[in-house]
Amino acid sequence: MRKRIFSGAQPTGNVHLGNHLGALRNWVALQHEYESFFCIVNLHAITVAQDPGLLAEKTRDLARIYLAVGIDPDASTVFVQSDVHEHAELTWALNCVARMSELERMTQYKDKARKQEENVTVGLFDYPVLMASDILLYQTDLVPVGEDQKQHLELTRDLAIRFNRDYGETFRIPDPYIPKVGARIMSLSDPLKKMSKSDDDPNGCVMLMDDVDTVQRKFKRAVTDSGTEITFDESRPAIYNLLEIFHLVTGMGTQEVEDHFAGKGYAQLKGQLAEVVIEFLKPFQQRVREITDDQLDQILSKGREKAAGIAASTLKQVYNNLGISGARQ
Ligand code: TYM
Repeated sequence: MRKRIFSGAQPTGNVHLGNHLGALRNWVALQHEYESFFCIVNLHAITVAQDPGLLAEKTRDLARIYLAVGIDPDASTVFVQSDVHEHAELTWALNCVARMSELERMTQYKDKARKQEENVTVGLFDYPVLMASDILLYQTDLVPVGEDQKQHLELTRDLAIRFNRDYGETFRIPDPYIPKVGARIMSLSDPLKKMSKSDDDPNGCVMLMDDVDTVQRKFKRAVTDSGTEITFDESRPAIYNLLEIFHLVTGMGTQEVEDHFAGKGYAQLKGQLAEVVIEFLKPFQQRVREITDDQLDQILSKGREKAAGIAASTLKQVYNNLGISGARQ
């Protein structure tokens, strides 16, 4: 049997270059080797307040983005998290296995909670358990994500191992797949912070749907380091980040990239980087526009059916092992 991958992204805001280089491009690369499940995690999105109309729209937009970056719906299962009710149900079961103390240690929770202070929901606290449920429901082998999800993956493994130990073999233990290059694309305006849609400065984050002028402006304003050398030098994080993006978007080797920019200045680096990103985004944005509502409906309903079958069988096993299958056999 082919091994399985599962991954997902939140339909909040727009997808940015960091999401693509850190995660989505690897989904595309791995989808034919593995049996693949790509989820639009709208239940995760509501852990912070959302405008309901906009969320519904963004959920479909994100499905279009998955397809336009190259997810092949004939090879992969694309579906919406809330369409498969087992995600929420398994979360409850795993809530009764997870410890408060381990969730309190989650750095993403701590960061997000710090920003919101009084309005921290129970859902935000429980976010990593829902994520563990996503992964474990599909008996996943590998989870392609960016560096920022590493701690959530470790929790997922811990919960699966604990459940198997206490209630009998139930879940496959998943491994993270974090790429060597691109796992942490940094903000263009602050290279010590990861690129993020919640960046205070919108110029730090290049969205996949940005138009040509916006991409040019963002790269033009990108901060650089002191000095003039254009080399992969980790002690100069701004230039390192720009070169990493160039390397990933063009597919040129790192030495080739350094040779290409030898003797050139920062303005040329930023200008050429904007050009290659624009060239990459053009056909992608065209594909986003070409996907019809009917196509999308078909793909998402086929995805739901496939996902629900597997999710139901795992949840049944979980309920049996916990002794809560009630009158159902
Ligand atoms: P989300 O929506 O924040 O991000 C989607 C993916 O993009 C990666 N990523 C980055 N990679 C490199 N550089 C960056 N600056 C950068 N920013 C984001 C993320 O690591 C992620 O892989 N909790 C997840 C969604 C999720 C999930 C799952 C993922 C829910 N359930 C089950 C995998 C498996 C999240 O918020 O991703």
